[in-house]
Amino acid sequence: MTGKAIVYVGGHRTPCTMKIAVCGKGGVGKTFLAGSLAAHFASTGRPVIAIDADSSPNLALTLGLTQEEASRIQPVAENEELIRVKTATDHPGVFRLSFSVDDIIAKYAVQTPSGAHLLVMGTIKAAGTGCTCPAHSVVRALMRHLVVERNEVVILDMEAGIEHLGRGTAARVDVLLAVSDANKKSLLTAATICRLANEAGIPVAGIVANRNATPKEEEIVRAFAEENGIVLLGSVPYDPAVREAGITGEPAVPGQSPAWNAVRELAGALEKAKRPEDKSRQTGTTG
Ligand SMILES: Nc1ncnc2c1ncn2[C@@H]1O[C@H](COP(=O)(O)OP(=O)(O)OP(=O)(O)O)[C@@H](O)[C@H]1O
Ligand SMILES: [Mg+2]
Repeated sequence: MTGKAIVYVGGHRTPCTMKIAVCGKGGVGKTFLAGSLAAHFASTGRPVIAIDADSSPNLALTLGLTQEEASRIQPVAENEELIRVKTATDHPGVFRLSFSVDDIIAKYAVQTPSGAHLLVMGTIKAAGTGCTCPAHSVVRALMRHLVVERNEVVILDMEAGIEHLGRGTAARVDVLLAVSDANKKSLLTAATICRLANEAGIPVAGIVANRNATPKEEEIVRAFAEENGIVLLGSVPYDPAVREAGITGEPAVPGQSPAWNAVRELAGALEKAKRPEDKSRQTGTTG
């Protein structure tokens, strides 16, 4: 499936640009949050590229594509013809390491009903730190281009856990959201993610509480963040409308529901934290 070309092409960053990585333990709501933030920013008229960086991708449904449309998207890393065109040389076994990648976005980013464009990265077989296989070279160059050189709002829906954070790409973002519910293991994972973000020098990083059904649960996340010197960037409550959307596979439609109000509030807080004139930038850990 091929998307329409994106009109807004990269260049120098402008104050409106934001590169956001959404991380956290499995099942905490990363895809919901990445998708709803992408939809929110797109609804304000910004060009948005949402990246599905999970090896089992499902951001497409959250952005409003049907299952059928989603199944037609070929992930970049699994597009053998593209990888060959970008990296092949006349010498068998010798790969080109320098190539253009902006055309990949124009050709393969899919326009979604949310207004955001979606790019699915896919799984790299035998990938790992320092992997030099052609598919990995293309994905690495593309991710770098998206995070460092583009003017769009770029939102990365990351794979669960922390392993991928060491691979470099996420470390170049300027906002990192560690999503967590009140579950202790989710909170500990979020704390590790925030520590790594802090070490990587990511300017705005912290926990976003999600799917807490009661004020007591939300308070657990708040208290954990405070005790560990971590900024709580926002809190998205449990919302039956989001749960229902998860069950039907339909997108959680922007509206006045509690979760959407909280997503809008979070987006506003991130923009404020990111503004160059705002000297009180928030960092992952304060301790
Ligand atoms: N605020 C919320 N209120 C109610 N349900 C929610 C909320 N956030 C997420 N959910 C539901 O929780 C489930 C898991 O969410 P999601 O798929 O976004 O998690 P994830 O962290 O991306 O999972 P994975 O690690 O598998 O990628 C989904 O069914 C989703 O609809
Ligand atoms: Mg997910």
